[in-house]
Amino acid sequence: MQINMLHNGDCIAGLKQLNDGVVDLAFADPPFNIGYDYDVYHDKLESENYLAWSRDWTAEVVRVLKPNGTFWLAIGDEYAAELKIMLQRQHGLTCRSWVVWYYTFGVNCKYKFSRSHAHLFHMVKNANDLTFNVEAIRVPSARQLVYGDRRANPTGRLPDDTWILRPQDLPDGFQADEDTWYFPRVCGTFKERAGWHGCQMPEQLLGRIIRACSNEGDLVLDPFGGSGTTLAVAKKLGRKYLGFELSAEYSQRIKDRLDSINVGDPLDGAPEPLASAPTTANGRRVDEVKPKKRFVRAKKKEEIADSEASLPGF
Ligand SMILES: C[S@@+](CC[C@H](N)C(=O)[O-])C[C@H]1O[C@@H](n2cnc3c(N)ncnc32)[C@H](O)[C@@H]1O
Repeated sequence: MQINMLHNGDCIAGLKQLNDGVVDLAFADPPFNIGYDYDVYHDKLESENYLAWSRDWTAEVVRVLKPNGTFWLAIGDEYAAELKIMLQRQHGLTCRSWVVWYYTFGVNCKYKFSRSHAHLFHMVKNANDLTFNVEAIRVPSARQLVYGDRRANPTGRLPDDTWILRPQDLPDGFQADEDTWYFPRVCGTFKERAGWHGCQMPEQLLGRIIRACSNEGDLVLDPFGGSGTTLAVAKKLGRKYLGFELSAEYSQRIKDRLDSINVGDPLDGAPEPLASAPTTANGRRVDEVKPKKRFVRAKKKEEIADSEASLPGF
């Protein structure tokens, strides 16, 4: 099977063509079985079928991992518990970290707390032989920041289900070595947003994982290509890459994305969101800002994108 490529097709069929033990790092962000509107994949299986399918594809991922390989799984609340136990008890992996990705710009809910996190399970085959490049992922300390919250919106908003205001305003919040990570979701108005896949992950999040858990020249696998973030980041960081994606349309767009970037290109997005966004005290008040026509248009687009991203129960 050709590497440094995205293959259009089912990941289980594709993975079966690989030999045992060839992948250094796998990152998988599968459909969460929550009724998300993908163009081809039907994201609402009976629970038992979803779990059986998850057993099948995770077994293939574990088979193709090297003995010192690493597997990161992104998963929502609905199946996090079952899949974590499956990876440990049935596939014999060891969980190194249970990272919570805390994001802003999630989908707003009316009658429950808006979801603002996903689970990222960092699993390895051998807890005594693994890649973890500590020096490659250091970021400035949050203690460098200045805090203050005198301009809070008087009408308020419902807190997200990680109960903080903004990470920028926490004096000691979310240090680089903690397992709650803050990266904004790639929302409609962001330059980084490709605009055609609602589940696009931020490049900086994948950057941290790929830098920490693989070395230049290693092979990085993503069974669920989506918008192609994992493969794009792997390519920029000088790793080999291999991906699968069921949808022909998404696959073509991933190929275009990969063709448009080069090894060594900088990752999109702020490397350290805590330091790059102003604190609340230093932010601009709405009444200080003249609405610009372009902003109003972008805002409308974002609302549409967010409503398209609406999930049952949200
Ligand atoms: C949550 S999205 C991945 C998003 C991706 N992490 C990103 O940053 O863009 C899941 C993707 O898996 C794809 N998919 C679903 N079933 C698949 C299968 N059996 N094989 C390959 N891809 C599949 C869907 O079409 C969808 O694009």
